[in-house]
Amino acid sequence: MSESTIILGIESSCDDTSAAVIKGNTILSNIAASQAIHNEYGGVVPELASRAHQQNIIPTVQKSLLQANIQQNAISAIGFTRGPGLLGSLLVGTSFAKSLAMSLNVPLIEVNHLQAHILAHFIDDANSVPPKFPFLCLTVSGGHTMIVLVKDYFKMQILGKTIDDAAGEAFDKIGKLLELDYPAGPIVDRLGQLGNEDAFVFSKPKVPDYDYSFSGIKTSVLYFVQKKLKDNPDFIEQNLNDLCASVQKTIVDTLMVKLEKAALDYGINEIAIAGGVSANSALRKAMGENAKFKGWNVYIPKFEYTTDNAAMIAMVAQLKYERGEFAPLTISASARYDIEQDFDS
Ligand code: KG4
Ligand code: ZN
Repeated sequence: MSESTIILGIESSCDDTSAAVIKGNTILSNIAASQAIHNEYGGVVPELASRAHQQNIIPTVQKSLLQANIQQNAISAIGFTRGPGLLGSLLVGTSFAKSLAMSLNVPLIEVNHLQAHILAHFIDDANSVPPKFPFLCLTVSGGHTMIVLVKDYFKMQILGKTIDDAAGEAFDKIGKLLELDYPAGPIVDRLGQLGNEDAFVFSKPKVPDYDYSFSGIKTSVLYFVQKKLKDNPDFIEQNLNDLCASVQKTIVDTLMVKLEKAALDYGINEIAIAGGVSANSALRKAMGENAKFKGWNVYIPKFEYTTDNAAMIAMVAQLKYERGEFAPLTISASARYDIEQDFDS
């Protein structure tokens, strides 16, 4: 990797506007502007997200360059998230990246957001040692839940994925019915650490192979809580920590069962997690236990590289820069960009 290559990465796939500068393999800055506006709606409102990206993108990029102490004319290339994500959000980052690349006369590099979540493990300070190929990566975010077999940097195969809600979506939707703010995932995590995870039992999904389903857990919690509220209107308030702990246990157990099955079936013990839900303390603990009792080599990203960030985009752009994989200035955003795009064997 060329030590002098400086890349600006831009991420705008959902509700975080982020910009990062990478030099060689070292992250010099990683700035994110999150959008509090969605909290009152209990979820991301696409139109509001793209408007907020438009307001945030210039100051975020400026801050990122300032923190990295880099002048615009020192930038070697611009990397940006092409997809998957919300189209209106992606368009803001894509058009900004295209215009900047054109005005600075530097190459443009398109990045798949999900590949970036996985490849964040290769950022210099992300792990003491990066995972070895082939490894399995449980990729869990607000929009995706999948077990990915990572054969090489850009050779990824989805072994299984959710057939309905994503794990992060389940945390957020169940949190909403427990009257928590959006995004509820981190709140369920925090409160759950104070509760008893065996206090309540919710039904677990039955789906074949390595696939997942989370909408049934949500319904199971909904019916249970509705029934309890009839007898006791303060049920949620009085049992919030236990409810959060039990919901978290159900979701994490569900995630781990399939990951353990895939590890066994494929004979792989290099196991990583990625995406926003990989910040979850119970999931991290479960991974640690498998490292201890099953001999897994476990890779858990640093907290700042779990939720959406531009450092991971800049990292992948570096890899593509080395390979000369540049995008034409006519490229457009792709809301349904497939992670298996470069999988050829
Ligand atoms: O990767 P990410 O930032 O955005 C997407 O690409 O979706 O993931 C956001 C998701 C949200 O659903 C959020 O509730 C969840 O990750 N999340 C968590 C935790 N931190 C973030 N879920 C459970 N526990 C956490 N600590
Ligand atoms: Zn993400």
